[in-house]
Amino acid sequence: MNDHRYSNEEIAAVERAIRERRDMRHFLPDPLPEGLLERLVEAAHLAPSVGFMQPWRFLHITDQALRRRIHALVEEERLITAEKLPSRNEEFRQVKIEGILDCADVLVVALMPERERHIVGRRQLPEMDVASVGCAIQNMWLLARAEGIGLGWVSFFDPDALGALLGLPDGARPVAVLCIGQVSAFYPRPMFEEAGWGKRLPLASVLFENQWPSEAGGTPTAY
Ligand SMILES: Cc1cc2nc3c(=O)[nH]c(=O)nc-3n(C[C@H](O)[C@H](O)[C@H](O)COP(=O)(O)O)c2cc1C
Repeated sequence: MNDHRYSNEEIAAVERAIRERRDMRHFLPDPLPEGLLERLVEAAHLAPSVGFMQPWRFLHITDQALRRRIHALVEEERLITAEKLPSRNEEFRQVKIEGILDCADVLVVALMPERERHIVGRRQLPEMDVASVGCAIQNMWLLARAEGIGLGWVSFFDPDALGALLGLPDGARPVAVLCIGQVSAFYPRPMFEEAGWGKRLPLASVLFENQWPSEAGGTPTAY
C-alpha cells in the first residue's frame, strides 16, 4: 500500500471499464447527454503522446450528407476487403463492422500534418504518432464505457479519399472514424469472437521472458 494508491472501489471501476469496454456497432438513435462529447474529446486530449507532440485532430461530422458519403467509402472498402480475403468471403460480408448511419455522433480522428518535424521518440519509429492517437482513442473509449456510451472504431476506408472528402491538408492522415452513441446493451464478448473470427489469446502466449521462444509463432489468422 502507498499514499498514491486509489481506493479499492476506484481501482475496481477502472478495471471494470477496461474489461467491459467493447467495440460497438449497434446504436440507438438517442442523442448523447449534454456536454459528454466534449468530455470524451477532452479525455482523448489528455492522452500520452510521443515527445508530447499531440498529433491527434478531431473532426465532428455534423453534416448528414457528409456522414452518408463517409459511410459509402467505408462500405466500398468493406466489400473490397471481403473480396480480398483468402477464404470465408461471404461470411465476412455478413459481419457488421460499423454503425456510422445509426449512431448519435461521428468523429473522424486524423494525424496532423508536418509530423516529420517531431523526431523526439520517433526518429527510428515514426509510427509512434499513430500509437499516440491509439492512446487518445482508448482514453475516450474507456470514459465512454464508464458513461454507458458505446464507441466503435472504424478503419475500413481509403485514407486519401476520406482526407479529400474532409479537406485535410497535405500530410494529414485520417486513422479512425468513430461511431459514438447510446446502446441498448454492450456485447459480452468482442463481436468478432461471437462471429467466430478469433478468441482472446491466453496471456501466456503473449508474455515471454527475455527471449522470444522458438515455438512461439504469430497470431492465428482470423480468416
Ligand atoms: C486500430 C483499430 C481499428 C479497428 N477497426 C475496426 C473496424 O473498422 N471495424 C470494426 O468492426 N472493428 C474495428 N476495430 C475493433 C476491433 O474489431 C475490436 O477491438 C476487436 O475485435 C476486439 O473487440 P473489443 O474491442 O470489443 O474487445 C478496430 C480496433 C482497433 C484498435
